[in-house]
Amino acid sequence: MDFKAYGFFPPAPQWLPERDMPDQTGRVFVVTGANTGIGREIARGLLLRGAKVFAACRSKERAAEAIDTLKRETGRDAIHFLQVDLASIKATVATAEAFVASEDRLDGLINSAGVSATPAHWKTEDGIELQFGTNVVGHFALTMALLPLLKQTAKAQGPGEVRIVHVASSMHFIQQDKRGIFYEGLRSDGVGKNKRSGTILYGQSKLGNIHVSNRLAEVLRDDGILNLSLHPGNITTELLRHRSKLERWIIGPILYPTPMGAVTPLYAATAQELTMEHTGGYLVPWARLYHTTHPKAQDKQAIDATWAFCDEAVRSVTKAEVTTAATTATTTTTTTTTTQATPAGTETGTGAGAEASK
Ligand SMILES: NC(=O)c1ccc[n+]([C@@H]2O[C@H](COP(=O)([O-])OP(=O)(O)OC[C@H]3O[C@@H](n4cnc5c(N)ncnc54)[C@H](OP(=O)(O)O)[C@@H]3O)[C@@H](O)[C@H]2O)c1
Repeated sequence: MDFKAYGFFPPAPQWLPERDMPDQTGRVFVVTGANTGIGREIARGLLLRGAKVFAACRSKERAAEAIDTLKRETGRDAIHFLQVDLASIKATVATAEAFVASEDRLDGLINSAGVSATPAHWKTEDGIELQFGTNVVGHFALTMALLPLLKQTAKAQGPGEVRIVHVASSMHFIQQDKRGIFYEGLRSDGVGKNKRSGTILYGQSKLGNIHVSNRLAEVLRDDGILNLSLHPGNITTELLRHRSKLERWIIGPILYPTPMGAVTPLYAATAQELTMEHTGGYLVPWARLYHTTHPKAQDKQAIDATWAFCDEAVRSVTKAEVTTAATTATTTTTTTTTTQATPAGTETGTGAGAEASK
């Protein structure tokens, strides 16, 4: 077993956000799941280095509590709420489109939100198994809809400056089925026949995160947008909320403190030694560029299948072409049915621009 690829027993970090992260003044980030756990620590790290952060969360109340606390703890005000429920493609795309219409730049998208070990029959609004639907399809929808702004920023800032960080997990190794991700089981009518456990379904969603990162690395290479996926480490967060008390008791002692979970994502999002040469890379804790040894992680057919599933899922909701063929370098997010005059995803209900002006 390659312990390094699994992220077990990581050595002490050589890179620390509070010591080594470059100044982020003037840069803008969207961090999903920023109200708790790893996402919240990522937001804290970025704020402390001068960035403006949009906390993309599903719950206004939970986000408000986190934002207030982060403002108090960091002494910085540049954090704003963006309502994103990744379990709804329509709402996610509407929020992202409103954001693109009203913001000037987006330097980094950190896709950190996630659900784990939910029962196989739990589904998103769009009828997709909840973990794959949230962790992979929801982030795919968000990312594709934000691409115009990411591309625009990349053009102005230069290659490798704009980044998309995909928080995966070493748990993708648990998806060992030779057939790969069980797509038939992800739709509502297939889940009942799906004998896979919540844990296996989590694992395959995390493999899906790596697939999307790898394909975006290819598709966005010429745009100079750096895509990286990673395992953040085994971290004390609320991720185990759907596991039994016994499981939490067993797993608890091997977990690292919550702030450690932000080290690798912050490195991926900001470290200057990472360049376009590293796009499509996979990082392990803490802040180490490595690779995954999973046989399906780089497999073109497997990546095509994940991309096609996400593409079809988003297109079936937006009724628009989300992306051109998986291997081409052009991507469009022009939608027809979900563009809403009312920006569903903003704190004030007056548009992402209201946030931007703060
Ligand atoms: N903790 C670990 O040991 C570990 C290890 C490997 C990988 N990871 C990955 O790290 C990432 C962060 O997880 P965490 O450990 O920080 O877990 P966490 O504390 O449970 O945080 C998960 C975040 O995702 C948000 N979220 C869940 N469903 C959502 C939805 N439909 N729309 C928008 N946001 C949603 C949650 O929002 P609510 O608070 O509203 O539910 C929360 O903010 C995940 O991608 C996870 O797979 C974690």
